[in-house]
Amino acid sequence: MELKQSVQDALNRQIKEELFSAYIYLAVSAYCERTGLTGFAHWMRVQAREELGHALKIFDFVNDRGGRVVLQAINEPGVDFGTPLQIAEKALEHERRVTAMIEQIYGLAVKENDYATQALMQWFISEQVEEEKNATLLVDRLRLVGEDRGALLMLDMELGKREPEEEEED
Ligand code: FEO
Repeated sequence: MELKQSVQDALNRQIKEELFSAYIYLAVSAYCERTGLTGFAHWMRVQAREELGHALKIFDFVNDRGGRVVLQAINEPGVDFGTPLQIAEKALEHERRVTAMIEQIYGLAVKENDYATQALMQWFISEQVEEEKNATLLVDRLRLVGEDRGALLMLDMELGKREPEEEEED
């Protein structure tokens, strides 16, 4: 089945959104590095790579379907991001927004009887459960840490151990 224009447009927007996510996490990584939180910086950098992987997954899908990938301009992500708790809360808010976008594409694919896009979006829906879980955990941990500098450094050390996910290239 040929990729419908409306679905293709939505997928191209999502490629941009995933690249924007990568850009944000990378900018936050640089900010954390600057403020001495190298574990947070590492965690954010791993997350940025995951987001790039998400973009490429959709990129490949559009190409595989004989569609046209149209890369769009990405906004500047900013340079200052506040406290670790503010960063985590922003990340959670961002991931919830991404989830809503994914659900919209799924709805569109249902409307257009595009089963392949539905299957792809199902993968993303599950992935977003994971993404929101990770961001929520970070928020919860940072609330527990509160003003305790020692606890913050312990958490920083733990986040520094995050392993990149297996590459999902096929
Ligand atoms: Fe690609 Fe964090 O969602």
